[in-house]
Parts: sequence; structure tokens; C-alpha cells
Amino acid sequence: MRILSGIQPSGTLHLGNYFGAIQQHVELQEQAGGASNAFYFIANYHSLTSLHDAAKLRALTRDVAIDYLTLGLDPTKATFFRQSDVPEVTELAWLLACCVGKGLLERAHSYKDKVAKGLEASMGLFNYPVLMAADILIYRSDVVPVGKDQQQHVEMTQDMAQSFNAAFGREVFKRPEWRFSKAPVVPGIDGAKMSKSYDNTIPIFLPDDMTDKQAWKKYFASIKTDSKGVEEPKDPNDSLMQLYKLVAPEAAAEFEPVYVRGGVGYGELKKKLHDAYTARFGVLREKRRAIAADEAFVEGVLAEGAKRARAVAREVMAEARGACGLDVTASTHA
Ligand code: TRP
Repeated sequence: MRILSGIQPSGTLHLGNYFGAIQQHVELQEQAGGASNAFYFIANYHSLTSLHDAAKLRALTRDVAIDYLTLGLDPTKATFFRQSDVPEVTELAWLLACCVGKGLLERAHSYKDKVAKGLEASMGLFNYPVLMAADILIYRSDVVPVGKDQQQHVEMTQDMAQSFNAAFGREVFKRPEWRFSKAPVVPGIDGAKMSKSYDNTIPIFLPDDMTDKQAWKKYFASIKTDSKGVEEPKDPNDSLMQLYKLVAPEAAAEFEPVYVRGGVGYGELKKKLHDAYTARFGVLREKRRAIAADEAFVEGVLAEGAKRARAVAREVMAEARGACGLDVTASTHA
């Protein structure tokens, strides 16, 4: 069984990315039973739908690689690569685009949301789900761990696999299934879904020049709460508690009855959350610095990953080309 997922390098990774995706990716590599069964990639082609700055894209791509390796991605247990190191995937996106109705893509949330805001979508954004389908299908993935916002894209992938197979009368592509992470939606500091586009994120790793005190003020003290007083009973599912449950599940379970009873203020829980964050992620900063300093190691991991991924992609592409009649068969030469 092959597990595959991608993550866009379009901003500094935050707790929403961690609990919505990365944590599960790292856990699944343990169950996958070998690096050829767990494929994770940095979706840098997808980032071009929102980012047009070469230096920034390069830096963000590198940061995602370093973050994953710091957070436990093990290159002996998973195949980890850059999407663009397997350019075959863009060719497959074309083949799939020729088998998918425009109406299906018009229903994609990412596209609809942009148009609803009155912004003009690029063809890249419109085709985003097709490229994502190519990512999934080219590696014959069985399971795609994703956050809730990506469910629709995996369902569209199922449709595209089926349309392609039906159009050419061959079972080239396998139907993938989505799987939610434990926390498909993580609240941001304003209570809405944590997302780069809402500017409400808490980064997994603080910027190098930020002190803990600055982080406290910017990210933790400013988490939005209602105006309940210290003595009042609190909601065990408010966003503050949701974050605490994610960052420190055991401590949060213990604290929950106290919180519900009343007698502790929001400020106290914010401090607990900040301490738990530092204990879990702050301690990895040294490890992260060491990995970041070892460029040859990071590049080596990605190059090896691309080699393995590309071997699979080429095989599947040969079949896909054959199914469409793009190959040069023996009979053509005869
Ligand atoms: N669209 C995904 C996201 O923004 C990233 C992605 C690209 C992806 N290709 C993928 C995820 C293939 C899973 C499988 O989160």
C-alpha cells in the first residue's frame, strides 16, 4: 500500500500544517513498511499559483525540507522529494486535463473562493486540482492523508482516474482514498481556521531573530477569547483549549475538568500553552539549526527521493502514454 501526500512551500509552516498534516505524515512512515510505501513531496509547482518570486520559492522549499527533517521525517523510511524534480507529473496533468470536464473544476473550492472574492484566477489555479490528481495518480497512491480542505481535491482525483481509464479503456490508474489527520482543522489565534491567508498562524519554529518573549506577545497572549471572568466555567472546546489539547494532550486532559469548573483565567491557560509549545517545538530549534547548516545532507535526501519517485513515475507514464496512443509502438516502425 502506498501513502502519498504533498505540502506547499508557500509560507512558513505553522501549527495548522503540523497537526493537520506533518504529524500524521511522520507517524505513517512508521506503519508504511518501507520507503517505497511512504511518499512525501514539496509541492513547489503548486506554489507558483500564488507565489512569483524565485528567491522566495527556493528559500521556502528549502525551509519545508529542513522542517520535515527536523520534525522526524526519516529518509530511510519515506521517500521525500521536490515535486518539480519529477517533471513527468506536469505531462500527466495535461493528459488528465483532456479527460476532465471544465464544470468539475469550476466547482473546486480553491477556485470558487478566489472568484467569489472578485479576484481573477490564473489557469494554474484553475488547473490546480488536475496537477494534484497527477501527483497522486502518477505514483499509484492508495491513501492520501490530508486536511479537510483537501478532501474535495482527492475526490476529484478519483473522478479523473476513472474518466481517464474509461476514456482509453484501460485500468492505468488506481483509485486513491483520502484519510483525515486527527486534527483536520486547527484554530488560529483569531479562532478561525489557522491559515497563512488569514494571518492568524503560530509558526512551528520561531524566526531566528525572535525571542520567546516576543513570541508570547505576538502569538499566545493574543489568542482570542471571550470575556468570561476568572471564576466562570470555561468551554473545554474553545480554541485555546483545542490548541492546548493538540500541543500537550496529556496535560490538557488533566487540566480540562479544572477549566470547566472555573477558577482559572484565560491568561493562565495561555501561559500553559506557551510553555507546552516551547517544550515540544522550542527544544528542536538546535536540531533544526544543525540540519539547516548541512546543505549537502538536505540536498542528498531530496535527490535520492527524486530518483526513487521518478522511477515509479516513468513507469506509470509509459503506460499512460501507451493508453492514449502517444507511444511509438513496434507496429508503427514495422
Ligand atoms: N494541495 C495540497 C495542499 O495545499 C498540496 C498538495 C499538492 C497535495 N499535491 C498533493 C496533497 C497531492 C496531497 C496529495 O495542502
